Amino acid sequence: MQTEEKHETTVATQDSCPLLGIDHLELYVGNAKQAAYFYQSAFGFQPLAYAGPETGVKDKASYVLAQGNIRLVLSCSLIPVSEIAAHVNMHGDGVKVIALKVKNTEKAYQNSIDRGARSYLEPVVNKDEHGEVSLSGIHTYGDTVHVFVDRSNYKGLFAPGYEEWKPSYCPGEVGLKEVDHLVGNVDWMQMNVWTKFYEDVLGFNQLVSFDDKDISTEYSALMSKVMSDGEGKIKFPINEPAVGKRKSQVEEYLIFYKGAGVQHIALETDDIISTVTQLKERGVEFLNIPTGYYDTLAERCGEIEEELSSLKELGVLVDRDEDGYLLQIFTKPVEDRPTVFFEIIQRRGARSFGKGNFKALFETIEKEQARRGNL
Ligand code: FE2
Repeated sequence: MQTEEKHETTVATQDSCPLLGIDHLELYVGNAKQAAYFYQSAFGFQPLAYAGPETGVKDKASYVLAQGNIRLVLSCSLIPVSEIAAHVNMHGDGVKVIALKVKNTEKAYQNSIDRGARSYLEPVVNKDEHGEVSLSGIHTYGDTVHVFVDRSNYKGLFAPGYEEWKPSYCPGEVGLKEVDHLVGNVDWMQMNVWTKFYEDVLGFNQLVSFDDKDISTEYSALMSKVMSDGEGKIKFPINEPAVGKRKSQVEEYLIFYKGAGVQHIALETDDIISTVTQLKERGVEFLNIPTGYYDTLAERCGEIEEELSSLKELGVLVDRDEDGYLLQIFTKPVEDRPTVFFEIIQRRGARSFGKGNFKALFETIEKEQARRGNL
């Protein structure tokens, strides 16, 4: 059943202070040094900057890595009691900060607070010899936050407090360019609460919605709405579990993450075959789609530029919408809790999210859940 809705929203909260894109993602992790090595080695992120005891920060260590326009910050606590330590204790490794670029962090903050957001960080300006970075922040679902960032007056590598990080070990990039979208999992009956939050507070529109009839297998189901800023630069699908015979993947996430949080980070490449080939060589584990999936691919998706045999060998999925087609593949969770994972996506015109792949994908995820004893 097709349930795509074009939803006109007149609340353009941040019109006076538009969101310019995703500045960076900060993950709170148990061991930032080892996480940095993983994202360098496995995903081809390049070392950029570091903050920790050597740079005058006593209670935490942070590594900044970049690839294309994607910036990841990996932070861990150096002391037993801190915001990071509590977050990692509760959630395991996970995305804490989805940082959004703005022109005016004070205005973005004030607009958001006026529209009902809860404060995370009051506006602050951090300075060093390279200039200044302005920050402010609000809470979103779970313990996740949005930090507004204005670095237009900063010439340094990342932000005051950070120094160049230049390890001798430096594997190459794998062709990842941009954050395509970020998916949040929220609790039962909370999807509409949080889509309304994005409408009211950040002036987002709803691009698409999927209900449990679209996204269900025999056992598990979920519902999803895709929220986007006016220009479509920022896309945040929000999922909630739906009733199925067994525990859905969203429920499994909520149990192990101990609440709402970022489920997956979708990263865009211009050449998914090359990117995924390299990621596999570097040990990134992907979900294995039954090869029968490819028997009906031509029927479903029509002509595509890529060799079917290469896609089949790598397990890359294809879906078509009215604007074109897309190629996508999903990693297994990147930590021991079955929580955060990555999607690698290449868009050939399509602006959707791979609805035609949901069934094959979810059956594969259920097999993984069953192996973990969580189905
Ligand atoms: Fe996705």
